[in-house]
Amino acid sequence: MAEDNLTRPDHAAADWTIPQAWNRYTSEEHATWDTLFDRQVRLLPGRVTHEFMEGLDVLRMSRSGIPNFEELSERLMRRTGWQVVAVPGLVPDDVFFDHLANRRFVAGNFIRRPEQLDYLQEPDVFHDVFGHVPLLAHPVFADYMQAYGQGGQRAAALGAIDKLARLYWYTVEFGLIRSGEGLKLYGAGIVSSFTESAFATDDPSPNRLGFDLRRLMRTKYRIDDFQQNYFVIDSFEQLLDQTLNTDFGPLYAELAEEPDIEIEAILPSDVVFTRGTQAYAREKVVA
Ligand SMILES: [Fe+2]
Repeated sequence: MAEDNLTRPDHAAADWTIPQAWNRYTSEEHATWDTLFDRQVRLLPGRVTHEFMEGLDVLRMSRSGIPNFEELSERLMRRTGWQVVAVPGLVPDDVFFDHLANRRFVAGNFIRRPEQLDYLQEPDVFHDVFGHVPLLAHPVFADYMQAYGQGGQRAAALGAIDKLARLYWYTVEFGLIRSGEGLKLYGAGIVSSFTESAFATDDPSPNRLGFDLRRLMRTKYRIDDFQQNYFVIDSFEQLLDQTLNTDFGPLYAELAEEPDIEIEAILPSDVVFTRGTQAYAREKVVA
């Protein structure tokens, strides 16, 4: 993930990468990975899209302990030409986009502490690698991630990063996909979260709406709790096609004139899979 106003730590290279230093992980840190991994792979079958489970499998991510990025990158490179590189944490937008545009996924090399299993502010190696990397083994999703990075570079030049960031948020991090067996998870922010994996699939609170690029880029999102709204794609091909074949320059110019859409709003033009009760979010406000 990316953020503005960051200072590069002294030990990071000009592109913000650092050695993963895999040999320095303690047995407790590897055990934390195993705990997180085990409970997700018990929870996710039936909830997550099958391409995610296939990615875990072809990348041999079920082996015990925090994955070694060099080995993971070798396997990923053979399938889709992507690599995983270590960074100290969040990186600036331009650095993030440049890595994605060159098929490098940046991953935090640190892991959360055992008492932080369910909540962590900064993305750690479990979120970044378990959440994001399996789908990078899927050729179409892999191309989408590169197209997003290239789109980010154009958006930066046009002053529209805030609009494009919503595309990342509502797809790469919190996206759902249709399948013959109902709605499935693919967003990394959901699939790496024990609590949100169940919430996003089962809870009646959130809206689940059909993917609409223009509408989505006008929609606010929340970073502090479960989403109140998920967007559902038909396929990864749809995502790639719309990202490659939309003329974003004129679209950003139009969006700059239009008001943002509130998180929980449902518009007459929306394809509605679930009209959420919003009970979860309302209870939080009262509390
Ligand atoms: Fe992420």
